[in-house]
Amino acid sequence: MGSNGANETANNRGKVTVVGAGFYGATTVQRLAEYDIFETVVMTDIIEGKPQGLALDLNQSRPIEGFETRIIGTNGYEESAGSDIVVITAGLPRKPGMSRMDLIEKNAGIVRSVTEQVKVTSPDAVIVVVSNPLDEMTALTAIASGFPKNRVMGQAGMLDTARFTNFVAEELGVPVRSVRTLTLGSHGDTMVPVPSQCTVDGKPLADVLPAEKIAEIVDRTRNGGAEVVALLKTGSAYYAPSAAAARMVKAVAEDSGAEMPVCAWVSGQYGISDVYLGVQARVGREGVKEVTELPLESDELGALKQAAEAVRAKQADVANL
Ligand code: 2OP
Repeated sequence: MGSNGANETANNRGKVTVVGAGFYGATTVQRLAEYDIFETVVMTDIIEGKPQGLALDLNQSRPIEGFETRIIGTNGYEESAGSDIVVITAGLPRKPGMSRMDLIEKNAGIVRSVTEQVKVTSPDAVIVVVSNPLDEMTALTAIASGFPKNRVMGQAGMLDTARFTNFVAEELGVPVRSVRTLTLGSHGDTMVPVPSQCTVDGKPLADVLPAEKIAEIVDRTRNGGAEVVALLKTGSAYYAPSAAAARMVKAVAEDSGAEMPVCAWVSGQYGISDVYLGVQARVGREGVKEVTELPLESDELGALKQAAEAVRAKQADVANL
């Protein structure tokens, strides 16, 4: 992490940029700033005054929350130059009744133009994409940036897994920390919840919940985003999504090698190649360090392969958008 501004302290280093000052972007900025590990978090958005106003407000929370990270709001990319990590939240969220795929054309134009700016101003950054449809926008960002594939990843699996975990914990009335779940595949219809990898206090999920209940929770997880959209009516979820994106950024910044489900370039694992797909991976300074191949049951592996083919077709289309 290579900057050395006047207010850098031993613990605060590096620069992160979040593109998009909507709820998702702004809450991601807040979480990143409150980690108090970065020197600077830059928020950029095309709406004049919005990122500047949010940055001013967030900076004024520093004495209360007790963090030193400075937040800069801007409408351009100058202040973001040389960022170590860039989070792309730009694009439209869903409205009730819309699928993530309904956003593809509009968001492809936005994400492509953002990526072209990032490529020039922060050529060494790791990019975390959160715009929807997630798997396709991640693939498009990799194409438009020309960055090595490990330096471009998408956030979805952390969020879907968190939803799954929360539902299981609520159903059983146990702490969320005693539950481990996993979803792979796409952030969409071909999301693949993986019950064989799920445990409660170390016991297989199938031993503590009946199959119909697991199926119900899996279904609710797959529709987790739409359920929030239907309630909010304007905009989509942002608290859990921003928590997930911020943790990915933290893993990169700290070069932690933490294992997390992310949308990553798959090259041979599970017999799947050359596609961005939700998989478990170790995340660190170079982005994706390694995709982990987990022992899946045959129906889970089949579903993952189906997801790969579904997103592969869409990712091919997106190159021309
Ligand atoms: C969700 O699932 C924003 O796609 C995101 O809520």
